[in-house]
Amino acid sequence: MSVKDPFSIMRTGFGFWESKVLLTAVEFDLFTKLGDNSMTARGIGEMLSLHSRGTRDFLDALLSMGFLEREGDGPGAQYRNTETTRVYLDRDNPSYMGGILEMLNKRLYKYWDDLGEALRTGKAQNEIKHSQKPLFEELYSDIPRLEQFMWAMAGISRHNFIALAQKFDFSRFRTLCDVGGAAGVLSIAVAEKHRSLICTSFDLPEVEPIAKRSIERAGLSDRVSTASGDFFRDPLPTADVITMGMILHDWNLEKKKKLIKSAYEALPERGAFIVVENLIDDARRENTFGLLMSLNMLIETGEGFDYTSADFNEWCAEAGFKKFEVLHLIGPSSAAIAYK
Ligand SMILES: C[S@@+](CC[C@H](N)C(=O)[O-])C[C@H]1O[C@@H](n2cnc3c(N)ncnc32)[C@H](O)[C@@H]1O
Repeated sequence: MSVKDPFSIMRTGFGFWESKVLLTAVEFDLFTKLGDNSMTARGIGEMLSLHSRGTRDFLDALLSMGFLEREGDGPGAQYRNTETTRVYLDRDNPSYMGGILEMLNKRLYKYWDDLGEALRTGKAQNEIKHSQKPLFEELYSDIPRLEQFMWAMAGISRHNFIALAQKFDFSRFRTLCDVGGAAGVLSIAVAEKHRSLICTSFDLPEVEPIAKRSIERAGLSDRVSTASGDFFRDPLPTADVITMGMILHDWNLEKKKKLIKSAYEALPERGAFIVVENLIDDARRENTFGLLMSLNMLIETGEGFDYTSADFNEWCAEAGFKKFEVLHLIGPSSAAIAYK
C-alpha cells in the first residue's frame, strides 16, 4: 500500500477555518468597505474596529487564500480587493453574491454543527427543529430573515440563471413562468437576454413585494410580472416554459412528483420544463457540492434531497414528458430539461 500525502485529510478537516475567515470578512463587509481603495492593515483595523492582535493574520490569511491582494510587506503594506472580490463581494456591485455567504454565517454554520444528529434522526436541525412549523412559514415569519433568505438565494443562483439565459435556446418560446421565483432573479436574467419573452415569477404572497421591487429596479416591469399562490394547492400559471430553480430539492419524492405533474399540466405540447439544481452525477461519485447540498436539505428540511438527471428523467417520464436533456451551467450546477 502506498502512503499518500495526508494533507487532503487535514485540508478538509480544517476546512471550517478557511470558511470562517471568509464568512467573517463578509460579515464585516470588508470587501465593500475597501471598494476600489488600498489600505494598510492598521487603517483596515481602525475602519472595522478590530483589535490589533489578529488583524494582520486575518488579512494575510485572506490574501493567502486569494481573496485580497497586497502591495509591499510589513506594516506599510497596502491591501486591496482582487478582481473577483470586487465583482462578487462588494455589495455596491450588482453581481454581489455575498447574500448566500451572509446566510451561511448567520444560520447554516451553526445548524451544520448538528449534522450527526440529522444523520441519526433524519430530522431538520434548523429553526424548525423545535417549532415543528413548515420551513417557509417559519423562515418568513420574520421579515429580516425573509429578506436575508431572498438575497441568499439570489447570491447562489444569479450566475446560474445568467448562464441558463445564455445557453438554452429560448427562441421558439413566447412565455415563461418561474415557479418559486423568489426575488425574480431567473425571470430578470432571461428577460434581459431575450427581448421577446414574457415572464412571470410565481411564489408565495409574502415574497411578491420583494420580487416586484427587484423587477422594477431592473426596468423590466413591462415584460416580467409576478403572481402569487401556493404551488401545492393552486394550479401553476400556464406558459411555454416552466422553470424551477432549486425547488424540487426542497421536498420529498411525493411532493417532487406533484410539482412535476403540475408543471406538465401548465405546459403546452412541446413546452419545456427546466429545473436548475446542483444535479448529482448519475454514479454519485463526483459532484461533491451536489451531495453536500443534499445533506444541507436534510439539515434545512429533513425530507428534501438532491438528485441525479437519471432520477429527474424517470420522474418526468412517469408524468408524461417525452424528451430530456441536461445543460451544464456553472461549476456544480446544471439545468435538467424535460419536453412535453
Ligand atoms: C430554495 S428557494 C429557491 C428560489 C429560487 N428559485 C432560486 O433558485 O434561487 C425556494 C422558493 O420556493 C418558494 N416556495 C416555497 N413553498 C412554496 C409554495 N408552497 N408555493 C409557492 N412557492 C413556494 C419559496 O418562497 C422560495 O422562494
